[in-house]
Amino acid sequence: MSQQFDVVVIGGGPGGYVAAIRAAQLGFSTACIDEWKNDKGGPAPGGTCTNVGCIPSKALLQSSEHFEHAGHAFADHGIGLDNLSIDVAKMLGRKDTVVKQNNDGILYLFKKNKVTFFHGRGSFVKAADGGYEIAVTGTANESIVGKHVILATGSNARSLPGAPFDEQKILSNDGALRIGAVPKRLGVIGSGVIGLEMGSVWRRLGSEVTVLEGLPTFLGAVDQQIAKEAHKAFVKQGLKIELGVKIDKVTSAKSTVTVTYANAKGEAVKLEVDKLIVSIGRVPNTIGLNAEAVGLKLDERGAITVDDHCHTNLPNVWAVGDVVRGPMLAHKAEEEGVAVAERIAGQHPHVNFNTVPWVIYTSPEIAWVGQTEQQLQAEGREYKAGTFPFMANGRARAMGDTTGMVKMLADATTDEILGVHIVGPFASELIAEAVVAMEFRASAEDIARICHAHPSLSESTKEAALAVDKRTLNF
Ligand code: FAD
Ligand code: NAI
Repeated sequence: MSQQFDVVVIGGGPGGYVAAIRAAQLGFSTACIDEWKNDKGGPAPGGTCTNVGCIPSKALLQSSEHFEHAGHAFADHGIGLDNLSIDVAKMLGRKDTVVKQNNDGILYLFKKNKVTFFHGRGSFVKAADGGYEIAVTGTANESIVGKHVILATGSNARSLPGAPFDEQKILSNDGALRIGAVPKRLGVIGSGVIGLEMGSVWRRLGSEVTVLEGLPTFLGAVDQQIAKEAHKAFVKQGLKIELGVKIDKVTSAKSTVTVTYANAKGEAVKLEVDKLIVSIGRVPNTIGLNAEAVGLKLDERGAITVDDHCHTNLPNVWAVGDVVRGPMLAHKAEEEGVAVAERIAGQHPHVNFNTVPWVIYTSPEIAWVGQTEQQLQAEGREYKAGTFPFMANGRARAMGDTTGMVKMLADATTDEILGVHIVGPFASELIAEAVVAMEFRASAEDIARICHAHPSLSESTKEAALAVDKRTLNF
């Protein structure tokens, strides 16, 4: 007789594991199935985010930023260092330890919340009495039944046609996080989030990095004033960024990779590199779910079709995170996972897509929430804009990190904040205030009237709010 659960979650990434914990908190008997294996074949829940995404990339960004500071910024503070070196193996080992801490943390949370964890692949067998029969294959081999099923199977890196990932020379995010020695020449295709973050890591450690981007605009989804400022900073740091290229082919030799492409002028160019990261977006993953067995509907991109409440075309089957529409972000997946568990419990949660923050963890960091100036212009909405440069912020000057600005956009009539865009130090942390403000539908004046600690970077947000009304105090 199959084990029966109120809720079975397939996928243990940020969407799935959080959904499972919330479902268990709400009193449901809950199982979570995840197939990710660590190097020893053991369970490694946490999905892309924990194993080959958010967490390891931030670990390497931190290590490489320390290296860059030690090499370039410490001297300004009067700190001298001789014989600075980088031990790449140790840096990667530290990253692996951080990943394992997170894997273990999730297994602990499952125990604490009484979520039954199955290490293996979950596939639909059939609609069964009282729910759906799910086969688990792998380390665990079981047949279980879930009254409700939450699908959180994530996404995979998209490869270039004719250039499959070999993870030795042509790298996805996975290989990009495991390069064993600093490559002399690193190519990156796609100047999106992964390209800029991973390109920054290896540039800081000494690689000559060339980023090839298909679109003519740098960071097209980002407010263009912010994108231009970031572009300027990246180029100054030594990242070579070519926009408007058309990749022709990628050929791999023994120890090099050659990318043949047409540049923005249409000229044919050959770029030879030692490693090539291909970061041109990700595709939803439903491999192994056996979606056909139950008639689960997918869209033309291969994403699971869901309504605004993450409900699929099947009764009591839900889907969240990268495998459905919307931004491919860990915190978006988590919010959807929690919301689905609460809906199953009869509650009425809401995920506000307009206040999902974005962060690019480069240096300077880029973070934003809400609409860009270009989007407001395209909508024909009347708005006011205020900017404040970190150059005029006392804390930023004391830190020696004055690149960038905070920019606030507010409705011309009501003063409601419509978007906040930051490029500069700790933008990832500063954006939280803007998210809270927008969730509470604050006006720029609300932020301008709030007391912010001095000296702090957050004063720049207050000053940007004052700038909306053309009355900055410190600029
Ligand atoms: P995933 O995290 O992909 O998890 C899906 C899980 O399901 C995996 O463990 C997979 O093995 C498992 N699975 C799939 N099919 C089955 C099956 N049939 N049976 C059992 N298990 C299955 N987002 C941010 O918000 N911030 C960041 O800083 C950030 N950095 C990133 C850096 C990189 C390099 C990458 C690649 C991504 C990054 N992301 C970041 C995106 C983030 O990782 C994803 O948005 C997030 O992981 C999506 O969560 P998910 O739960 O939908 O899917
Ligand atoms: P992306 O969508 O951010 O960027 C892909 C880039 O590649 C785009 O600029 C696109 O125009 C370009 N491109 C596409 N096809 C191309 C081609 N054939 N030739 C040249 N350029 C081409 O995708 P990326 O960087 O792969 O990351 C995937 C997703 O992972 C992100 O969109 C994001 O959702 C998530 N992520 C989030 C992070 C964060 O929150 N800090 C960090 C890393 C990833």
